[in-house]
Amino acid sequence: MNQVIFPPFTSRDNRLFLEDHDLCELCDLHGTPLLVTSEKRLRENYRRIYNAFSSLYSRFEIRYAIKSNSNPAVISILRDEGSGVDVSSINELNIARYCGVPVEKILFSPNNASRDELLEALKNGVAVNFDDIGQLNILGDKHPETASFRINLNIEKGEFPGTTTAGPNAKFGMPESYAAEAYRQAREIGVRKFGIHVMIGSNVLSPDHFEHVAGEIFNAAGRISRETGIKFDFIDLGGGFGVPYRPEEKELNVDTVASSVINSLEKANAQYGLGNPKLLIEPGRYISADTTVLLGRVNNIKSYTKTFVGTDIGMNIMLRTALYGAYHHIVLANDLSRALSGPKEIVGQICENTDRIAKEREFPEARIDDIIAVFTSGSYVSSMSSNYNGRTRAREILLSDDGIHVVRERDKFEDFVRNTKIPDHLLDNSGK
Ligand SMILES: Cc1ncc(COP(=O)(O)O)c(C=O)c1O
Repeated sequence: MNQVIFPPFTSRDNRLFLEDHDLCELCDLHGTPLLVTSEKRLRENYRRIYNAFSSLYSRFEIRYAIKSNSNPAVISILRDEGSGVDVSSINELNIARYCGVPVEKILFSPNNASRDELLEALKNGVAVNFDDIGQLNILGDKHPETASFRINLNIEKGEFPGTTTAGPNAKFGMPESYAAEAYRQAREIGVRKFGIHVMIGSNVLSPDHFEHVAGEIFNAAGRISRETGIKFDFIDLGGGFGVPYRPEEKELNVDTVASSVINSLEKANAQYGLGNPKLLIEPGRYISADTTVLLGRVNNIKSYTKTFVGTDIGMNIMLRTALYGAYHHIVLANDLSRALSGPKEIVGQICENTDRIAKEREFPEARIDDIIAVFTSGSYVSSMSSNYNGRTRAREILLSDDGIHVVRERDKFEDFVRNTKIPDHLLDNSGK
């Protein structure tokens, strides 16, 4: 029997499997660092959260936040499921278009966008969540027909200080007290349709928080509507739906979340006559995070003051642990039963002392060529990766019913010099 190690990953003969695939064999075939994604899990995650809400409220739609994982294969699977997308830049918008996502299902939620970027989105016919009235005003008379504003409800909720999405220190959105005036100004310059946007938080695992923030934004929408006379076409709750990063954490029950959110919406509808607005959410992590494992190889081990397990997974591949001190669960994929043998620093190849995938982590004794597996690596891993220190990013493969697909090649030398140019007077013409 396959034992579940960390859903959806299992153990067979002490080796880590994803569905019927031996992940160590995939490393031998494709090299490391390697990101392996399950198409099946991606579709399941999308359907679970979509069904939870749409079974209770028919005017419900998902805008998958492609910043979490913008691989075109991932976006295409979700487009195939019927998902829309949330994009934060024109390049993300273009990736979504490249994957065939229809413009009416694309939402642009930028931060401090330039006038040109906003105009480009409008030219494409994409709706915009403006971060502030200033972002609408820079468009002058080229204003859109629809405008939505991001409201900072002053409810701080982020897993780390660096992922807080609201509160007095957050750079996002405008306080509710300024919102009515912003909507009035928008109407005066000719905007005819309105949305309202909030970010629930980041990696939130408690259903109560969703009920709380959703209740607050529905009531804020009601108050703004009463004060200004505008009706909201859509209310967008943003992202923040959490996933377990530690084995002991419980999955978020999206049925519970959906039922309390829809309940609050119906109450606000009855109290303020909101007029059945469309309900949008922008989950990223919930849909993509647990679909993917990051695999790397042990290159060196040294034990002086501490034990350092040196791998090929640097902070250029996995930034979250260095950036936020995020926890990612790690196992030895080639020997799942090897006993823990004390705390270790699991580190990468980058010349920074913050280049650590785990600090003081209880871990088995590692050996050269062992394969380590870092779970929950489908969100904010590939999309945050870089070529720092001249390191290549991970190859990405997708496991589908019809086989294994390489969906991102490893960078080649040409990729490192593409877009650069040595001025003529510096070219080495010595013929050496
Ligand atoms: C505007 C917006 N929407 C959606 C998301 C997705 O958040 P998550 O991946 O936590 O669901 C983010 C994340 O930063 C965001 O900024």
